[in-house]
Amino acid sequence: MRACDDRRPWWRTAVVYEVYLRSFADSDGDGVGDVNGLRSRLPYLADLGVDALWVTPWYPSPMADGGYDVSDHRDIDPRLGTLADVDSLLAEAHDAGLRLMVDLVANHTSAEHPWFRAALAGGRGAPERARYFFRDGRDGGDRPPNDWISAFGGPAWTRVREPDGSMGQWYLHLFAPEQPDLDWDDPVVQEEFDGTVRFWLDRGVDGIRVDAAPALAKVPGLPDAGHAPGALFESARWVDNPHWDRDEVHDVFRRWRSISDGYDGDRVFVSEAVVAGPERLARYVRPDELHTSFNFDYLRAAWDADGLRAAIDGTLSALAPVGAPPTWVLSSHDETRHVTRFGRAASGAATMGFDAAAPTDLVLGLRRARAAALLTLALPGGAYLYQGEELGLPEVEDLPEEVLQDPTWERSGHTARGRDGCRVPLPWSGDRPPFGFTADDVRPWLPQPESWRDLTVAAQRDDPASTLSLYRRALRLRRTLPGLADDAPLTWCDLGEGVLAFDRGRRFRCIVNLSDRPVALAGQGGPVLTSSPVAADLPTDTAAWLRTD
Ligand code: NOJ
Repeated sequence: MRACDDRRPWWRTAVVYEVYLRSFADSDGDGVGDVNGLRSRLPYLADLGVDALWVTPWYPSPMADGGYDVSDHRDIDPRLGTLADVDSLLAEAHDAGLRLMVDLVANHTSAEHPWFRAALAGGRGAPERARYFFRDGRDGGDRPPNDWISAFGGPAWTRVREPDGSMGQWYLHLFAPEQPDLDWDDPVVQEEFDGTVRFWLDRGVDGIRVDAAPALAKVPGLPDAGHAPGALFESARWVDNPHWDRDEVHDVFRRWRSISDGYDGDRVFVSEAVVAGPERLARYVRPDELHTSFNFDYLRAAWDADGLRAAIDGTLSALAPVGAPPTWVLSSHDETRHVTRFGRAASGAATMGFDAAAPTDLVLGLRRARAAALLTLALPGGAYLYQGEELGLPEVEDLPEEVLQDPTWERSGHTARGRDGCRVPLPWSGDRPPFGFTADDVRPWLPQPESWRDLTVAAQRDDPASTLSLYRRALRLRRTLPGLADDAPLTWCDLGEGVLAFDRGRRFRCIVNLSDRPVALAGQGGPVLTSSPVAADLPTDTAAWLRTD
């Protein structure tokens, strides 16, 4: 493993690669990616040059929400592997110099979790109901207890049939009905998750991603939130909301931090928190809470110099007082892939899975995506890459309706296609589906476009102009170039409107041209890497890394 600088824990500058396990690589020919498929591709990831992997939930799950509906937090879904496979994965990843992070889904369980089944079977007053939010409905029981909404559309409440067959109480689910919310005021819930955090840290994982972190506390009494009928789950705009970003969520993080601090080896928490601005986000990464957080302001910014600069500056200035490193991310399993977003007139990301289809120029999108990669990897702190972005994969926007699995599709009344289009299995090799993702005669769980034949790993590996080659070179240079390797502070330079230009220390400069005119490179330093071919000038939608010594 790469030596860890004692003064700078690995996670302060790590590039973490998100593995959406079902779509990464399939080892057993069932069309679904799995742990052993990931093991077989560790050499690829080590060669790519990332520092760590974050693996999305691999726990036993009915897969109502792609594994974020967990029925046992301390085991592996048999379709994905076994705990023994995970032990081998951990050992092999560490041998390859890669750290490994798991996903902790603590806001909700699956409706198939033994606790929830007992809560249903036990009827009104069952002790297990106290671990969730069971409430009587309004107006004699027929209307949900309040106006809270689900992230996937529709109300956040579902009514149950009691064991005697009568219509009964309602339970809360901020996500799908198959994902009942846990009540974090219940000590049994708190202790159970202390045990789960320890279980994975004891097993040797290097970090834990905290799913839906702002949801872990609700205002007692569950008052209305004031959501208009049909409102979207736009948590980035919510202030003083009764079910999101309450101050009490921080008690949970402090509790977990005191556990992880007892372990050696710089274990890290990263929070998934879409909250109202960087100051609110900074509260999640105070010194005794989570270490890092995803950066949704950056992810959702449009391809626009002022907007990106505002997201960068806002992040840096909000995090400086708490001493946490920034992270930067362009895509994930929840968002429209950025090659596609950047090829649209409205290039920012919308609320999870609710992007309206719009005309897309994929050539433009890829050009910008490559420039965005150099911007992202030149910023201070850490970065998250989503599997397939290193191949320049676009969103698959024409999946047949009958294969869509994201709950958003049903919950939105078939108005939003949801997130399946960014979850299509990776193309590894060959000139037709399944492109080496699974056995040749097997259909992957989501169909891959024929056009991906030019985007496979095998097609790109030896092509110096490919997106894969660009990422490999950038990740190598990030480890060696002065300014990047030593995580020097960022200083902006003014190269005119529409141009993002900054120095990292005195020997490195990054220039990204988002204007409609070329930018002269004379006097800016020696280019070491550019996102598209460059002569004397830096063309529109192109980025350059330059040495200035
Ligand atoms: C965020 C996860 O990234 C997303 O995929 C999931 O649907 C929700 N949290 C609910 O767990």
